[in-house]
Amino acid sequence: MSTQSSGPAIETVGLVKTFGETRAVDGVDLTVPAGTVYGVLGPNGAGKTTTVKMLATLLRPDGGEARVFGHDVVREADEVRGRVSLTGQYASVDEDLTGTENLVLLARLLGHRKPAARTRAAQLLEAFGLTEAAGKQVKHYSGGMRRRIDIAASILSTPDLLFLDEPTTGLDPRSRNQVWDIVRAVVAQGTTVLLTTQYLDEADQLASRIAVIDRGKVIAEGTKGELKASVGAGSVHLRLRDADRRPLAADLLRRALDAQVQTEPDPVALTARLTTAASDDTAAEQAARALNELARAGITVDNFSLGQPSLDEVFLALTGHDTQQPQSGSDNAHDPKDEVAA
Ligand SMILES: Nc1ncnc2c1ncn2[C@@H]1O[C@H](COP(=O)(O)OP(=O)(O)OP(=O)(O)O)[C@@H](O)[C@H]1O
Ligand SMILES: [Mg+2]
Repeated sequence: MSTQSSGPAIETVGLVKTFGETRAVDGVDLTVPAGTVYGVLGPNGAGKTTTVKMLATLLRPDGGEARVFGHDVVREADEVRGRVSLTGQYASVDEDLTGTENLVLLARLLGHRKPAARTRAAQLLEAFGLTEAAGKQVKHYSGGMRRRIDIAASILSTPDLLFLDEPTTGLDPRSRNQVWDIVRAVVAQGTTVLLTTQYLDEADQLASRIAVIDRGKVIAEGTKGELKASVGAGSVHLRLRDADRRPLAADLLRRALDAQVQTEPDPVALTARLTTAASDDTAAEQAARALNELARAGITVDNFSLGQPSLDEVFLALTGHDTQQPQSGSDNAHDPKDEVAA
């Protein structure tokens, strides 16, 4: 692993890319600290892939500046290429080759001698749970296996910066978890990861900071905590002993907390959305008050939790539309995974 300079891994100022009338990236400012996972979260057509391609020197910006480890992506493209690796949304191993053949070939292209290339390929296949599939042609891999070999291919030589463009789109939950573990392992080795995703829970799981982009613009940026805090105080989730008491409990919570109360499909469950504006009390104080009221009314609470707002709520509050709303000029892949119970 090469040492990284102390500055940010990525810095962009006013980055722009237009395609005809479409301003795909419309003045994006980003600062990505080295050694972390940075999440770029946005719906279809937000400009995520276009941004990544400019940073990886695959597309030339039409305006603004971008530096990767201090190197300008246009004027010093070679230096940038030497330090980054990209796992694209539509990635790039050879389908007709086996897992081993792909990795050995790519390792050879990176300058490894044959024995070293074989060793590295075997290590990665093992680390990614692909040893059994190593001798199979990639075209026979499942979606999850395919995504894992794509990532393996992009970290053959440990890059200083890895772009992962929607690494888990379309994967089942188990495969997503495997990819998440891989991302964590890559970062633990010192690589900076820029991850684009449409999945709020994915950004929440992996990223230390998140930029939310919508229609080519950054509409919010910060740590997860900061983004969530900008939206509201959070929610109190309750499960009652007795379903019959739920209407009364909902009523009490509404009055005690001035909160929006939702009943869940589970007949004993309730969620109260806390509003920061209502009082100066912290979420915990409000929750304590709620429990008190319920106890006084003789309503037994079996289970109780206090949650921060979900990133779905953050997105809705920031954009006025939810993450599933398709953008014009893009396909409208709808994934139910991120829906919140309403
Ligand atoms: N080569 C191109 N020619 C014309 N328009 C393009 C091109 N590439 C992207 N666009 C448009 O630019 C906008 C941003 O696209 P981009 O692929 O960056 O979005 P994205 O955030 O990666 O979306 P997705 O989540 O669907 O991958 C979209 O409106 C898209 O249609
Ligand atoms: Mg994309």
